[in-house]
Amino acid sequence: MIVTPWEVSGKIDYDKLIREFGVEPLTIELLERIRKHAGTLHTQLRRKIFFSHRDLNWILDEYEKGHKFALYTGRGPSGPVHIGHIVPWVFTKHLQDVFKANLFFQLTDDEKFLFRQETNIDDSHHWTYENILDIIAMGFDPKRTVIISDLKNMQRLYEIAIKVAKHMTFSTVKAVFGFQDSSNIGIIFFPAVQSVPAFLPSATSGKSVPCLIPAAIDQDPYWRITRDVAPKLGFPKPAQIHSKFLPGLGKGGKMSASMPETAIFTTDAPEVAERKVMNAFTGGRATVEEQRRLGANPDICPIYSYEYFLFMEDDKEIEQLRRNCMSGHLLCGDCKQMLVQRVKPFLRELQARRERAKDHVDEFLAEKKGLNLPE
Ligand code: TRP
Repeated sequence: MIVTPWEVSGKIDYDKLIREFGVEPLTIELLERIRKHAGTLHTQLRRKIFFSHRDLNWILDEYEKGHKFALYTGRGPSGPVHIGHIVPWVFTKHLQDVFKANLFFQLTDDEKFLFRQETNIDDSHHWTYENILDIIAMGFDPKRTVIISDLKNMQRLYEIAIKVAKHMTFSTVKAVFGFQDSSNIGIIFFPAVQSVPAFLPSATSGKSVPCLIPAAIDQDPYWRITRDVAPKLGFPKPAQIHSKFLPGLGKGGKMSASMPETAIFTTDAPEVAERKVMNAFTGGRATVEEQRRLGANPDICPIYSYEYFLFMEDDKEIEQLRRNCMSGHLLCGDCKQMLVQRVKPFLRELQARRERAKDHVDEFLAEKKGLNLPE
């Protein structure tokens, strides 16, 4: 398996990632602590979609002492948003709601320009705007959320970025990210830019504010080096909570915008999404007879994964689906139909919210409102 910020492939062993990255699994005790404050345990926690962390205990310790934390997440806007991207955003929105947390949402349009051969700056701006609509459609609270395009706001980030950069060496970023002597110098500086929002809650309020980063596990290398720098600048180390990857509609691999037939985009017409689902790989058998006799395998099936990650929130229902699949009771065509019946209204609703978002963009943008959020 390969898990880096630019490549995720192979069969992902999350227990192994916990060991290799040196992060902590989310324990039952920790989940119970969250449940106590949140009132419920979010589906993504019950199902271990968010499965590991760094310093989440500390975030809760501080919260219990009356120190609220801020959230930081982000997106590299290199194309349209798919339903895999929104998995951690759904959870981030939940955290914002239950903990009344401020959210710094970074759009690393500079990163996507620097890392991709074919991208020009206009494309970066275009996808930033398009992706902002998806982010707003998630329902984040405009009073407590600021969306930061790096390209549009670098003057607000630069002071902290160079302070961070001064403590990051070329040999460190080479080792952590695999940069080469032939790498362009923009990407060598970039990790400092992705660190900045982790420090904004403290820097903008003039107080030490704990920061929690919900993100897919592939972003972890950034946080390792950010945490090393934090004390040198007098900031608390940001904490993390890490999510798994939503698989694509093909056989194996995470959902990826570079393979459009295997990704469900938020902007796909419901009929297009239906076609993609109906053509998807499944954990089913070669023939109906075999499936009835031997059952199918939900653990390699993207259709089951989408129900599990996003659509079927009732635990009893998903358990039943799993049993019906494994027993051969349920055939893949029928199961796909069930998913289609959920995906189509989901997309219609999201697209309506996305349209409405167009009138609210200014309420979220750092270039309009600055970086200060209420206490
Ligand atoms: N580098 C991330 C990407 O390519 C974008 C990003 C910036 C991000 N800051 C973040 C993701 C914080 C998660 C959390 O998608």
